[in-house]
Amino acid sequence: MATREEVREIVEAAEREIPDIRNALDLEEKRVRFIGRERGLITKVMRELGQLSAEQRREIGAAANAAKGRIEELLEIQRRKVHEDVLDPNLDRPEDLTLPPRRVRVGRLHPISQTTREVSRVFATMGFETVEGPEIEWDYYNFEALNIPPGHPAREKWDTLWISNPLGDDPSRPILGRTHTSPMQVRVMEKRKPPIRVVIPGRCYRYEATDAIRESIFFQYEGLAIDEKLTMADLKGVLYSFARQIFGSDRKIRFRVDYFPFTEPSAEIAFDCFACEGRDPGCHVCGGDGWIEAAGCGMVHPDVLRRVGYDPARYQGFAFGGGIERLAMLRTGAPDIRLFYQNDLRYLEQF
Ligand code: PHE
Repeated sequence: MATREEVREIVEAAEREIPDIRNALDLEEKRVRFIGRERGLITKVMRELGQLSAEQRREIGAAANAAKGRIEELLEIQRRKVHEDVLDPNLDRPEDLTLPPRRVRVGRLHPISQTTREVSRVFATMGFETVEGPEIEWDYYNFEALNIPPGHPAREKWDTLWISNPLGDDPSRPILGRTHTSPMQVRVMEKRKPPIRVVIPGRCYRYEATDAIRESIFFQYEGLAIDEKLTMADLKGVLYSFARQIFGSDRKIRFRVDYFPFTEPSAEIAFDCFACEGRDPGCHVCGGDGWIEAAGCGMVHPDVLRRVGYDPARYQGFAFGGGIERLAMLRTGAPDIRLFYQNDLRYLEQF
């Protein structure tokens, strides 16, 4: 038999249980438990009202109605809370402004990348466009097209890593890690028509004993200019301007006769040693010589021009190629090339 006591206990139970609810499923379960049409506790009380006297029916009926209203209200409040929790569990938790901030680590370009960009920027001021080419190269572009046929002694100077040919191991078309960026001279000339002004930075490979100024994997920049009236004077002017823009006017420059199979005449350009300025006979950077070879250069050989279909009587040009690490060493004062590749952040973060 329904009593006021019973109704009060039901409301108390609802007040205890409903505010603990954290999800919609449990909420529905509570709704069924308290006011569900079939077996809800309040519904059961109401069903039993018929067995009571008229006076009790009025009194308990009113109490049951009020209880139902209260429980619906509790369910609605909780429904809103559950909904907000789902949208944002932190909504009513204030931010703790005393927490130390998460450190933002700002990255930067590696000194070799910085130097590469600087090289491109400086040559861009003289109208040179930066292009790139493959690191894995055909023997043809790395050697043959540059007047270095099989058996040529210059191949020994540029020994490298040979790679088994994925296109059928054709021994007449061997491939290798390019030993210099010069193969790109040929690739660019094959694709374009003069006038040409390009600079090509990129990674190169050589079979080399590593020391303070030599690495077996390193970067070069290549320059190529082809036009109708270019001379050695243009080559010198461009490289002088380059050296001065990068190192300032007090760096001394030396041109000396050199030999490369793909340029004629050829020259070597050197900068005076930044470490000892020529004063230390035991200098570990220049070996006491006072000069650091910075680039090879020369007028593009007529045979190279002919091979790509240019008429040497009409077109001439110059080319140059140098090591990016050496430039980076000069710019940063690094005493040893290996510092660039040991991935020691204590060193790299200085730049
Ligand atoms: N490729 C040559 C080297 O690696 C440098 C060079 C480039 C020389 C262009 C002449 C012209 O030593």
